[in-house]
Amino acid sequence: MQSGTGEFSYTLNSRMQALALQRLHPMLQDVVNHFKLPQDGIIRVADLGCSIGANTLNVAKVISSSLFTNGASEIQYFFSDLPTNDFNTLFQQLPSLDQVLGGNQISNFELQQPNLDLGKNTKEMEGETSRRLYYAAAVPGSFWERLFPSSSLHIIFSSNALHWITNFPKVIQDKTSGAYNKGQTFINEKNPKAFEACGEDFQTNLQKFFVHRATELVSGGILILIFAGRWTNLPTTKINDGSPHPSMDNFTDIAEASWEDLISEGLITRELKDSINVPIYLASMEEVRMALDETNVFVIQKFEMRKQIMSEVQGSLSENSKLFDDIVSNSWKAMYGEVIKVHIGEELANTYFQHLNKNLAKSGSKDWFNFMSEFLVVLVRK
Ligand SMILES: C[S@@+](CC[C@H](N)C(=O)[O-])C[C@H]1O[C@@H](n2cnc3c(N)ncnc32)[C@H](O)[C@@H]1O
Repeated sequence: MQSGTGEFSYTLNSRMQALALQRLHPMLQDVVNHFKLPQDGIIRVADLGCSIGANTLNVAKVISSSLFTNGASEIQYFFSDLPTNDFNTLFQQLPSLDQVLGGNQISNFELQQPNLDLGKNTKEMEGETSRRLYYAAAVPGSFWERLFPSSSLHIIFSSNALHWITNFPKVIQDKTSGAYNKGQTFINEKNPKAFEACGEDFQTNLQKFFVHRATELVSGGILILIFAGRWTNLPTTKINDGSPHPSMDNFTDIAEASWEDLISEGLITRELKDSINVPIYLASMEEVRMALDETNVFVIQKFEMRKQIMSEVQGSLSENSKLFDDIVSNSWKAMYGEVIKVHIGEELANTYFQHLNKNLAKSGSKDWFNFMSEFLVVLVRK
């Protein structure tokens, strides 16, 4: 994610995730309100893949205020992400600690939903998250590995993170392998071998993830997961039928077409494009269910896939179409810009995002994310 608070930072360009998350706040409140608190002691919560910005702080606010409503007296909240995450910016964004922490007046605390008006940027939204009801700490590390001591956490939360690939399987980047992701940057059914290799890795990682989280949670502790997936057994994107002008209806097609623009302008070679991959794997419900069954350490409280979420988010943003094109291309830049810069440098990366913005504007359909859906999973440690 782009660090800091500049024009293309994740802080200022995570509005789509904010809208998706805001819809889930009532569910989050409900799950936390019904969590059976231990009789005494500190409640420990972790947000894995927390990133930075208003989304991170709003989730912390929802969880901590629900815990206080539920009777908690002290909360320690761990913000966890890869060591490269901009923890400095996150900690500068933290509201100051509430003066009444630990006192009885906290029961009067009422949660204010963040205002996600299009007219406000995420920096302004931060101002509304003005009180902090938890002691904050950072835990750097990958969620595919162990992060916390045994039985030390009560609630683990993670949003918009589990679909990110941390390390690609070697075959994806090996030109001599049949699984080399040639001809495209996204990982999907258009290259079945690459797709399968990433699917196998995801399965191994997800099983490790469940086992590690089960070790870290107390018995009865909750794991809440929100992440992108693919609608079962449907292709993530239309297969290109070989036509020179493939459809530009969905985001992956538009993003690939923008790479083709750089090639046709002679700015990069096809070989260079072939070596670039988008670090996202969209799993199906069956794959996630398999990891849960194999590990058998959680009781499933909720296991849903919301197909409509991106369309709904889009619907609420797309009234102003030019602004929507900007939101999508800037949000992609905030998430993926750093990866692209490593391959082609800053100047060409900027040219790529200009093409993306132009191609988004050209695309008639605005239902660009209909190939994606969202997992909503709530698990209880056995
Ligand atoms: C799109 S951001 C989501 C941020 C925030 N949770 C939200 O919902 O807006 C994805 C975050 O996941 C983090 N991430 C990706 N892979 C990770 C891993 N293996 N371990 C920990 N964090 C990871 C990234 O660094 C990034 O900050």
